[in-house]
Amino acid sequence: MSPAPADAVPDAHAFSSLRPFDGARSRRIARAFAPKRLLGNRHDYFYTLIKLRSDPLYPGVLAALRGTRAPVLDLGCGLGLLSHALRQDGQAIPYRGVDIDADKIARGARVAADCGLRDVRLEVMDVGAETPKHCGSVTILDVLQFLEPDAQRALLEKAAAMIAPRGRLVIRTGLLDESGRSRTSRMSDRFANLVGWMQERPCNHPTIDGLRAILENAGLKVSAAPLYGSTPFNNWLLVATPATPGRCTASVRA
Ligand SMILES: C[S@@+](CC[C@H](N)C(=O)[O-])C[C@H]1O[C@@H](n2cnc3c(N)ncnc32)[C@H](O)[C@@H]1O
Repeated sequence: MSPAPADAVPDAHAFSSLRPFDGARSRRIARAFAPKRLLGNRHDYFYTLIKLRSDPLYPGVLAALRGTRAPVLDLGCGLGLLSHALRQDGQAIPYRGVDIDADKIARGARVAADCGLRDVRLEVMDVGAETPKHCGSVTILDVLQFLEPDAQRALLEKAAAMIAPRGRLVIRTGLLDESGRSRTSRMSDRFANLVGWMQERPCNHPTIDGLRAILENAGLKVSAAPLYGSTPFNNWLLVATPATPGRCTASVRA
């Protein structure tokens, strides 16, 4: 897909038909998470491989960010898989990821260092309580449902204030609506928490109208479309850019 001009809002509908990475590309990215020892723990390798093979999330996010140069802050970054996908895609933008799960951050930081990824930082942070200072692009991928409504709204407003004139806010989230997909998303999130895949309890899938209202009130133009791939989940991709130039009300310095 050709990059959109850096100052246009990419139309999220253009990403709806994107497929997950093919086997070869998924393995190339996931290999970074394979253990060095023969009998080492392969959980992160298989988790990333399955995610990359089955979910069009990263093709969608890479397409949304392509053509931008602003540094990206990944809120709730997990293992920092997006940084690997970006570099593999030839996108060299500085990457900073934060997540509440200290174990994931330690493993992700070790892998990023072992791979020699440049301009990649991973840190422990509860984004429901604080956010780093940032001006650029922001990604929030499959994280919003873990925050209470007030914390979710506060995070979205803070993220909106961080978007540089040519930056983008890219959100992927399961949406709350009346569909069977929505029920499946909520059940699978609860299951992931119960079996220990996810430490945080999912509590609050947002609605599309609620998200639009918060982001548009915060001065962004929003484009939203489903990004299901072949998953049974009600996953949507939102891409937002400043409605007027001269923004980035948050400070750039970390
Ligand atoms: C489904 S995972 C998504 C990880 C990553 N964004 C990705 O797409 O691969 C959700 C992540 O949100 C993180 N998370 C949940 N609540 C958080 C909070 N309050 N602050 C920071 N991270 C949080 C979890 O630790 C987990 O890594």
